[in-house]
Amino acid sequence: MKERINAIRNMEPSDALIKAEGWVRTKRDGKNVTFLELNDGSCLKGLQLVIDKSEFRNLSILDSITTGCAISAEGKIVKSEGGEQGVEMACEDITLIGECPSDYPLQKKRHTVEFLREKAHLRARTNLFGAVTRVRNTMAYAIHSFFQENGFVYVNTPIITASDCEGAGEMFQVTTLDLENVPRTEDGKVDYGKDFFGRMAKLTVSGQLSGETYAMAMKNIYTFGPTFRAENSNTTRHLAEFWMVEPEMAFCDLYGDMEVAESFLKYIFKAVLDKNGEDMEFFNSFVEKGVIETLEHVINSPFEHMTYTDAIKILEKENSRFDYPVHWGSDIQSEHERYLTEQVAKRPVIVTDYPKEIKAFYMKMNEDGKTVRGMDVLAPRLGEIIGGSEREYRYDVLLERMKELGLNEKDYWWYLELRKYGTAPHAGFGLGFERVVQYVTGVSNIRDVIPYPRYVKNADF
Ligand code: 4AD
Ligand code: MG
Repeated sequence: MKERINAIRNMEPSDALIKAEGWVRTKRDGKNVTFLELNDGSCLKGLQLVIDKSEFRNLSILDSITTGCAISAEGKIVKSEGGEQGVEMACEDITLIGECPSDYPLQKKRHTVEFLREKAHLRARTNLFGAVTRVRNTMAYAIHSFFQENGFVYVNTPIITASDCEGAGEMFQVTTLDLENVPRTEDGKVDYGKDFFGRMAKLTVSGQLSGETYAMAMKNIYTFGPTFRAENSNTTRHLAEFWMVEPEMAFCDLYGDMEVAESFLKYIFKAVLDKNGEDMEFFNSFVEKGVIETLEHVINSPFEHMTYTDAIKILEKENSRFDYPVHWGSDIQSEHERYLTEQVAKRPVIVTDYPKEIKAFYMKMNEDGKTVRGMDVLAPRLGEIIGGSEREYRYDVLLERMKELGLNEKDYWWYLELRKYGTAPHAGFGLGFERVVQYVTGVSNIRDVIPYPRYVKNADF
């Protein structure tokens, strides 16, 4: 019988022969006994293989078993002599499947995350990256479960697009034109008519605009896919390629939007605490002390709410402590977000009703004509993890706003038509998947919660 190691570790001792496959993490060689720790990614702790040299059939193979090699082991599950693990394998036979020479970079010792980033093809074999990978998996599954259980339809919005959803001009261009020899029109401009799509095309920064079109038919939808931003931000919370979850709900206002965001986050946190106990204990001990208690606290208490205007009043009093002092109208930056969540509320905070100047064109205008129905969910340690809003669903108001911002209405003709044919209030948000994985695990750099991070000057692997 062949089982994954997480299942084997939960077996009762018996005389049945069990087979385990995986990679050797450590080898301890004694005079009479050799101990191997075998890991197959199914759980944090490995299976201890105990080889009694006086009885082992295949002694000659032991010399070739080194840290990192791939093996298949056979034996009986017995109660563990050592205190820590419940059971171990009394190993009777081993087949060496893939040897691992001594230049294997992940020898038994602590490696820095910087070193491991350079070994990104191997780093999933470490405790840290194994745990991150499993937690990320649980979260992705929980995201789908939450929406599926609540009647949302999963929609795949395009990756290649012509519209800049956030209007920030931070898009990567997609082209098959020969950059050494760009075709030009008569007036000297690049002739995109000759490009693959017959027009300029980009990688999407958000699936929202297309998501809205489907919400206006299916009522509640969500997307979960890669998004791209050519931001020149060399920080611990920015990637050039990241995954975003974007629900969109018709017949919904900002309050409904915030309610969904809060119960959604709590659902994901709970799923991880329920399913990844061992991994979370690891993060709690070695990565971010207290992270489990924090998540439990967050699940059991309501998020704090405040308007942008109130947030600025609080922050202005503390301006002397900030690198970037604020006043009404300024962008709330990471240091301010952290102050609000860590010092003021001591939990996640939802900030609403931002000045229109610092938010995207599609947000619904408030009566005051100055602020829009946007909301950001801010989390301690990280700042913004969700950005969302009620959408401007009134044709004339939206058109006016687009003109004000100098957007070409022809580029958004289909988006405007949603407001012409059966418009309805609607709202949605975008959750940065990697940011929420950072929050849950306590991992401080976003480059360590995605398998292959892409950021300025880096697209290795
Ligand atoms: O706040 P943003 O820009 O919102 C939107 O894109 C909306 N269209 C979403 C919507 O309403 N459907 O981005 C949403 C979230 C942010 O709160 C942040 O968590 C994450 O995406 N994010 C990034 N994550 C990693 N690296 C980056 N460069 C990110 N930029 C945004
Ligand atoms: Mg935002």
